[in-house]
Amino acid sequence: MELYKGFDARRYLIERYPTTLFEEDQTKIMSSWDILCYHKFYQTFNKEWDNTNTILLEIGGGPCIYALISAAPYVAEIYHTDYVESCCNEVLMWKNADPDAYNWSPYFRHVVSTLEGQVSLDAVAKRESQLRRILKDPLTCDVRNEPIVPNMSKPVDIICANFSLETTLPTMTDFEHVMKVLFDMLNPKGFLLLLCSLGCSWYLIKEAKFPCIYLRLENIENAAKKAGFVVRTVESKDKALSGRNIYNDTTGHAFVVVQKPEQNQQEPEIHNSRV
Ligand SMILES: C[S@@+](CC[C@H](N)C(=O)[O-])C[C@H]1O[C@@H](n2cnc3c(N)ncnc32)[C@H](O)[C@@H]1O
Repeated sequence: MELYKGFDARRYLIERYPTTLFEEDQTKIMSSWDILCYHKFYQTFNKEWDNTNTILLEIGGGPCIYALISAAPYVAEIYHTDYVESCCNEVLMWKNADPDAYNWSPYFRHVVSTLEGQVSLDAVAKRESQLRRILKDPLTCDVRNEPIVPNMSKPVDIICANFSLETTLPTMTDFEHVMKVLFDMLNPKGFLLLLCSLGCSWYLIKEAKFPCIYLRLENIENAAKKAGFVVRTVESKDKALSGRNIYNDTTGHAFVVVQKPEQNQQEPEIHNSRV
């Protein structure tokens, strides 16, 4: 697992999140589908919480901020976390508008102008500064240990994990266990948003190969239900429709929205009777 100590954050960005992404055929690009899922989630669900005090936590966010762009108008604070220092540094550089930071501007234009329909350049620039303002300095996390985020003691309202559980946990049992831990980190009525690779057993960054838990859609839903969540929406996209196939053996992506019930439901009493 210390494989991740050699994770090349900048290479990952260049390969997976090219700044030319939105010049390509959008129907074929998996990450444009991922971004659309996030857009639809915040547009559809934002009435279910109070924007002024909602806390969003991203687990294993890598060097990325794409999943936070559509969240920014609807939450008060965002905590980004990752296990690898260079990933956290990439996000910190972006937050600090460092000249060497990765250029996420095309992603902002896509979300704010194309998806939300706000065409002025001013609206795009405002979103960038809004996200910089509410995004805290990145924190370290480790999904293999508890607490997962040692420097985060308060419960949160939304947790998102994008390709960071199936790619870092060794087994399905660990995946199911982490769902329970994430359940406990949420406030009642809190949301867990999972973007996962389906049918994937490996992915590449340059020549480095990383393993992945082979997931079917029902594995994710069942793990969420076992942890106590209520499933709100499930979407998936088949990768056969995508032109990109060189970086992994993924067959598709899933976006799963699950919610912690308002009150922790009591475990039904189990009666063992011997006749
Ligand atoms: C496939 S990448 C996903 C990155 C990003 N979330 C995205 O959507 O592209 C997996 C991420 O998990 C992080 N990671 C590796 N080991 C981890 C661990 N033990 N706990 C949490 N995250 C870990 C890696 O640093 C990497 O950023």
